[in-house]
Amino acid sequence: MNGLIDKLYHENTLSGGEFAALIKNRKQADAGALFAKAREVSKRRFGNGLYIRGLIEFSNYCGNDCHYCGIRRGNRHCERYRLSADDILQCCANGYALGFRTFVLQSGEDGAYSDGDLADIVVRIRKAYPDCAITLSIGEKSYEAYQRFFESGADRYLLRHETANAEHYAKLHPAGMSLANRKQCLYHLKQLGYQVGTGFMVGSPYQTAETLAEDLTFIKELDPQMVGIGPFLPHKDTRFAEEKAGSLELTLFLIGVLRLMLPNALIPATTAVGTVDARGREQAVLAGANVLMPNLSPVAVRKKYLLYDNKICTGEEAAECRDCLRRRMESIGYRLTVGRGDYSGE
Ligand code: 5AD
Ligand code: FES
Repeated sequence: MNGLIDKLYHENTLSGGEFAALIKNRKQADAGALFAKAREVSKRRFGNGLYIRGLIEFSNYCGNDCHYCGIRRGNRHCERYRLSADDILQCCANGYALGFRTFVLQSGEDGAYSDGDLADIVVRIRKAYPDCAITLSIGEKSYEAYQRFFESGADRYLLRHETANAEHYAKLHPAGMSLANRKQCLYHLKQLGYQVGTGFMVGSPYQTAETLAEDLTFIKELDPQMVGIGPFLPHKDTRFAEEKAGSLELTLFLIGVLRLMLPNALIPATTAVGTVDARGREQAVLAGANVLMPNLSPVAVRKKYLLYDNKICTGEEAAECRDCLRRRMESIGYRLTVGRGDYSGE
């Protein structure tokens, strides 16, 4: 197995069959070797610095009904909220004072904000914080909408592909949503010049080593600037309520694989990985992650943005999370850096 890890390290990719074999036959010893290489690659590019992004979850209304997600449209038990443009600007102000230079605006696919409304919000943030990056994470939109947001000042866009296998995609999403459309959106975003982030859940229902190999192959082809992965975690008000959570071990292994595939990529230690294990984020960094995305949303709404059960950091203020993360990362020899932390390929 170490042979495949070496090959990945030197060639930055494997065939689909090799990816599947690497995943299926992995042993603890292989993971150790993988993480050592992944850390070496991260350290060479980023030293011991970790980028921080301030996440603003500005609406949990969603027109979609993804089977795994706690804020899906059909969930009657989800208490909905929506932040105004002024509220969002206030979150940015708090974040800026705390040293954040990237704001990530995330929401469900909320039709109440027109493309014009969203563009106006981006314009206001761009004007108030010319030195900050603006990242959107608001789902599938038309090419024209993406273009309008980009021209308004958005720099980056996060849209996970969720799974690169069309049948698997259809098992996780209602009819009407398709992998083809998701991919089209990602290519549009790239074409427009966004720094693009994609990703998937680890251990989602019906996932196999083969579908994961397809995820990795798709990611290699898309060549995104960012890749976010985290364990699937069940939400009580979904059809997957009784499914088991994705494993920390496999999530870490795949972070290591992604780091070797995309040496320059921005790979977050996600909230989901911190939820599945108290030291999950630390372990993710030690497996090759280099980004942290603490929450800047008002504490009053935090508990309402629940994509899965038991989400961490729903009671803490932004400053508390930043300090908590700083301590956690210092405990493993890393530090948080101030700055936009743009992607820089070679
Ligand atoms: N468990 C883990 N991750 C989830 N997401 C949505 N629902 C869940 C869940 N139950 C992830 C999806 C989405 C991102 C914002 O959160 O991958 O793209
Ligand atoms: Fe939020 Fe630790 S990062 S409480």
